[in-house]
Amino acid sequence: MLSGDLMPSAAAKTPASPAPAKRGLLELRCVSKVFRNSPTAAIQCIDLCCQPGEFVVVVGPSGCGKSTLLNIAAGLIAADNGGAWIDGRKIELPGPDRAMVFQEHGLFPWLTAEENIEFGLKMKGMPRAERADRVQRALRMVHLPDAGRKLVHELSGGMRQRVAIARALVMDPDVLLMDEPFSSLDAQTRTLLHEQLQEIWLANSKTVLFVTHSVGEAVRLADRVVIMHANPGRIRREVPVKIPHPRDFDSPDISEVVGVIRTEIEDEVNRIHAETAEQVSHA
Ligand SMILES: Nc1ncnc2c1ncn2[C@@H]1O[C@H](COP(=O)(O)OP(=O)(O)O)[C@@H](O)[C@H]1O
Ligand SMILES: [Mg+2]
Repeated sequence: MLSGDLMPSAAAKTPASPAPAKRGLLELRCVSKVFRNSPTAAIQCIDLCCQPGEFVVVVGPSGCGKSTLLNIAAGLIAADNGGAWIDGRKIELPGPDRAMVFQEHGLFPWLTAEENIEFGLKMKGMPRAERADRVQRALRMVHLPDAGRKLVHELSGGMRQRVAIARALVMDPDVLLMDEPFSSLDAQTRTLLHEQLQEIWLANSKTVLFVTHSVGEAVRLADRVVIMHANPGRIRREVPVKIPHPRDFDSPDISEVVGVIRTEIEDEVNRIHAETAEQVSHA
């Protein structure tokens, strides 16, 4: 029989449980897509990894493949080569681990704000009381606690986008995919929504992959800005934004990073123009 000293204690038998892995690791590995009837790849062998809780913003000239990249991460279109993974699971279709917010809010106009937000939860079969609670929390998160009963046409553009964000957040996804969600809004509303999105992201620690053509918007929000190369769409450069959150949007640190990225994009636009001019002269 083992003596007391040799008997392993209960504490020694139970190894210290490791901290639960954070969810929301999004990996794109050598993702390519060529659309039919197109001479060049929309995107070509893009490698991009977003860490759990990281805010990554993709910028680049129109047509460089930003939306294609996001749609592949969403599972809305299939890559021709390579693929996308979320927490090690291959992305084949849209799923509850990801939610997308588009430039156009895509709300159902015949439903109220809260019915729109509730829609996905209802589809999931969540009981009414829990749904109501989650919808109210989501409305508070986007600073619209009193707008739940309003129909879509009774909301301003900024309010509609906030409802669209609440609709995405209410599903509690691990990754938020946002395709130019604020592009159709005026500058003042955009600034308000940058502040609110920053606050929501800090409170929820979701992984965010955000697409925009606005460099100012990118630097305000991002941990890392990915600058695209066009024709074919590739990553041209990545710029980390090492400014602590929450950020003062008027800080000179922000202007400095904006300057670096603008110069890089101008170089890319000049490269595209030179390439186009050369093609025309050889035609
Ligand atoms: N469904 C599609 N069919 C054919 N071509 C497409 C389709 N979607 C995008 N493209 C083309 O792929 C390229 C990248 O488009 P997109 O990803 O929308 O760029 P961005 O979002 O950066 O403006 C463009 O040349 C565009 O015309
Ligand atoms: Mg686009």
